[in-house]
Amino acid sequence: MSRQILVTSALPYANGSIHLGHLVEYIQTDIWVRFQKMRGHDCRYMCADDTHGTAIMLRAEKEGITPETLIGRVWDEHTRDFAGFHIGFDHYYSTHSDENRELASTIYLRLKEAGLIEIKTIAQLFDPVKNLFLPDRFIKGECPKCGAADQYGDNCEACGATYSPTELKNPVSAVSGATPVHKDSEHHFFKLGACEAFLREWTTSGSLQEEAANKMQEWFASGLNNWDISRDAPYFGFEIPGAPGKYFYVWLDAPVGYMASFAKYAADHGLDFNAWWDADSKTELVHFIGKDILYFHALFWPAMLKYSGHRLPTAIYAHGFLTVNGQKMSKSRGTFITAESYLAQKLNPEWLRYYYAAKLNGSMEDIDLNLDDFVARVNSDLVGKFINIASRTAGFIHKNFNGQLADGVENIELIGAFQAAADSIAAHYEARDYAKALREIMALADRANQYVADEKPWELAKKPEAVYRLHEVCTVALNCFRLLTLYLKPVLPKLAEQVEAFLDIPPLAWDDSQSLFIRRRINAYSHLMTRIDPATIAAMVDANKQNLEPTPAPAPVRHAEAQAHATQPVATAPVSETINIDDFAKIDLRIARIAEASHVEGADKLLRLTLDLGELGTRQVFAGIKSAYAPEALVGRLTVMVANLAPRKMKFGMSEGMVLAASGDAPGLFILSPDSGAQPGMKVK
Ligand code: MSP
Ligand code: ZN
Repeated sequence: MSRQILVTSALPYANGSIHLGHLVEYIQTDIWVRFQKMRGHDCRYMCADDTHGTAIMLRAEKEGITPETLIGRVWDEHTRDFAGFHIGFDHYYSTHSDENRELASTIYLRLKEAGLIEIKTIAQLFDPVKNLFLPDRFIKGECPKCGAADQYGDNCEACGATYSPTELKNPVSAVSGATPVHKDSEHHFFKLGACEAFLREWTTSGSLQEEAANKMQEWFASGLNNWDISRDAPYFGFEIPGAPGKYFYVWLDAPVGYMASFAKYAADHGLDFNAWWDADSKTELVHFIGKDILYFHALFWPAMLKYSGHRLPTAIYAHGFLTVNGQKMSKSRGTFITAESYLAQKLNPEWLRYYYAAKLNGSMEDIDLNLDDFVARVNSDLVGKFINIASRTAGFIHKNFNGQLADGVENIELIGAFQAAADSIAAHYEARDYAKALREIMALADRANQYVADEKPWELAKKPEAVYRLHEVCTVALNCFRLLTLYLKPVLPKLAEQVEAFLDIPPLAWDDSQSLFIRRRINAYSHLMTRIDPATIAAMVDANKQNLEPTPAPAPVRHAEAQAHATQPVATAPVSETINIDDFAKIDLRIARIAEASHVEGADKLLRLTLDLGELGTRQVFAGIKSAYAPEALVGRLTVMVANLAPRKMKFGMSEGMVLAASGDAPGLFILSPDSGAQPGMKVK
């Protein structure tokens, strides 16, 4: 029976680039969707950019553009990167849409009607310079438990304590540097506590993985807090109906973005929205997410759906986090790899799809991308085992049989074994145990290779009397190759397309696994996939590393170019090795006046600065601060530069020094300025 399945991946934030960590999720989901479609199900894959919140508002402001312009640009980048990895969304929308505004408002009003919204006055930290209530991540101060300096508003990285930002000692606004003040404001809360009985039941209804269901029990045990769903202006988001100056917190309208993406798609494709979202819907709703956002999806979201009269998720599938070479992705090691930089090296996206698939088993365990293993595995499995079967046999069909396959095969045993595996491989895909599916597929590939090695078509081709046998062997081998292609198609959609063209067959569906491939003409074989050259991997890691030079002074001051991905959280760098005063004296820091600043054609991250050092003359510096500053905003400002850095030749010209800027885990990048009175050329010591 054909199923109707609406599938989603989490909506990526519109304030950062897609990286290989994100791709674990989009590749995992895409494989599942492609598999369902091959099975003949009516499966629709929805996603969107998650565009609201303070971080996006502040970033746009810094760039001197509107948030709408910023999210438009990021949407272009995200959709380009996803297409590059063959992620086949049926619709990729934005949470900043009319549909989303309307659906979020409707849901809120229904929750209110159900008595689940409560308004309370709370005190929060407020930046008196920016006139802005500060989100936790924009407040730094000393940990109230252990006293460690420079900790965020919600938790301490030194002792692990969690607390509320109002408890921080000596708090500072990361936006303006001002000391925040306590200020009262009315907030809207969703009474999650009142939904506990429903949530307890739903948790055990089978929609969650066992690990996730266990996690939920811990959350119940520690008590469900009511959820603050409003934020004060200024905020980039949707104003709450009937509450001027109050906006929906980004996490309220983000999951509604799943519905909104589908609403637009349904309108464009003549589907009945209600049939998919009403409480009695017969369709399936499946969310793929990372384990970090389980709380939002397994508690808030089902409660929102339930009490606004909508259907509930059929399943929530959480995956683990990506590590690279066994460690958290790191910018200094060059393992914080963007999707864009992978594709820029001309690395084949299907290599990564295959590798992730080989590691994904449907659990919440973290998965490791070991770069040496990646090269070895892809080269041995895909090129050495899979492609090899066609490359060693197809030529004979062409040369000796005019491209025509045999009319029948005697050895039906091997092909029969391949056909018989269809159900078990399908069950693994269905259960998201792609690792098992691929193990089974590669075991079949081994058998096919063994067959070719035993039959030695290249020797048969030398004996005129063996021509019949040669035809049989090559036809059997190509049957095996076709079935392997079919089984791998959810993982390798583009390669499968190439094979379909080569075999001259219509797109393979799952049921085609039961048919025989004989009595047909195939096209000439041309090379299907190359091996990974390890040098390309090294180049990619280097390209992601190049922006990071060692910290010249204790963190968090860094070379401005280091900030290419300033909005992504980074692992806290350990304080650098101790240096003595002579080491420090080697760094010639000077006050500089930014005389000119301009965009650099063809550079995403750089600005070209002309720095005036007074008597020392001027310097040209390329600084990776484009994400944070509009050039006009910089001209005339004083800043601090490293004046004795060896000049470096860059693609765009010589860079003769570097500008200092601060950054941390919170979004934002801040160039340093001296106090008033400093003059260009002065030494900083
Ligand atoms: N905007 C929210 C999701 C809203 S859904 C209504 C968000 N965005 S995100 O860009 O930070 O992450 C998007 C997805 O990518 C999340 O499911 C997250 O778990 C996943 N990943 C982000 N970094 C990851 C790794 N390093 N490894 C694996 N998955 C990761 O969360
Ligand atoms: Zn602490």
